[in-house]
Amino acid sequence: MDYFAKERLILAIESSCDDTSAAVLRGNTVLSNVVSSQEIHAQYGGVVPELASREHQKSIVPVVELALRNAGVDKKDLEAVAYTRGPGLLGSLLVANSFAKSLSIALGIPLLEVHHMKAHILAHCIAMDGQKNPVFPFLCLTVSGGHTQLVLAESAETMRILGQTLDDAAGEAFDKTAKLLGLPYPGGPLIDKFAKLGDPKRFQFSKPKVEGLGFSFSGLKTGVLYFLQKEMQQNPRFVQENLNDICASIQSTIVEILVDKTREAMSMTNVKQIALAGGVSANSALRAAFIELGEQTGASVFIPPFSYCTDNAAMIGIAGQFLFEAGVFGEFSSAPLARWEFGTK
Ligand code: KG4
Ligand code: ZN
Repeated sequence: MDYFAKERLILAIESSCDDTSAAVLRGNTVLSNVVSSQEIHAQYGGVVPELASREHQKSIVPVVELALRNAGVDKKDLEAVAYTRGPGLLGSLLVANSFAKSLSIALGIPLLEVHHMKAHILAHCIAMDGQKNPVFPFLCLTVSGGHTQLVLAESAETMRILGQTLDDAAGEAFDKTAKLLGLPYPGGPLIDKFAKLGDPKRFQFSKPKVEGLGFSFSGLKTGVLYFLQKEMQQNPRFVQENLNDICASIQSTIVEILVDKTREAMSMTNVKQIALAGGVSANSALRAAFIELGEQTGASVFIPPFSYCTDNAAMIGIAGQFLFEAGVFGEFSSAPLARWEFGTK
């Protein structure tokens, strides 16, 4: 897929949450993508912003150096530097913001300010071995620990949010229910693992009734809590004895909520390409359900490798390439944006 008139060499940096990442891209080809994930938060059961910011400070220089080395690129050959301007944790964003600005000034190359959520979607435009890329317009379900959004990507610049969560994100629904089961953070991958051995129909959890294409997951968490309290009154070993079935039932409820809304969005927009992004897209049941949805509707399904689904700088790089192509450059006075309305740039 030729998205660009010219193939530019750019460095991209991501530090919006708890992963420090740097990547080098030529056009939509990734030459390197280095991700340093912060282990420190696991003991706290969630990301601690102050600690995240300090960890980024420690990692940013070695991560960028490694990305350049892995790509076999000298920094004097770079044509631009892209970074995540927002949304995210302010203290974390500041690290890539100041680093990218300094590099841009030192090398005399343009700065590209990337919207993190748009980048998750544009990750589908990265060249991937043996996989096709979507053609605009396509639908994307972005599901992670912080976000749940259904977006119509009309072009790289114009993206319309069709629906998003009113409370918890899908990843939080996994992590919070896992916590109720006594599983460590992040619980999503563990629910996925135990669910593989369980019966998804064994227990019923009610699905929220949300207007339009919005999502809500906080009710599921409460539903699971009350269910467990009731069962454990009768059998204190209820969770240990039924872990696989409980996980499979929770997982299938979350997946059904996500897939039902995606199906609705497809019939509303008549778009026949559906894509999955964000950390929760690693979930095996969600992947299988998306593939099935594609088969039922005749739509093409795009699920990138996991390394491009979770937070990574390669997606910042591809988003930066689109900004460069459109001639939209950043400014040295730009501050990071913890909140950034979708579609303003
Ligand atoms: O995109 P991501 O890496 O970053 C943040 O949002 O910070 O997403 C992390 C989320 C966590 O909530 C984690 O539990 C969830 O993705 N996750 C999964 C799976 N792998 C990661 N959820 C369900 N099943 C999985 N296999
Ligand atoms: Zn993200």
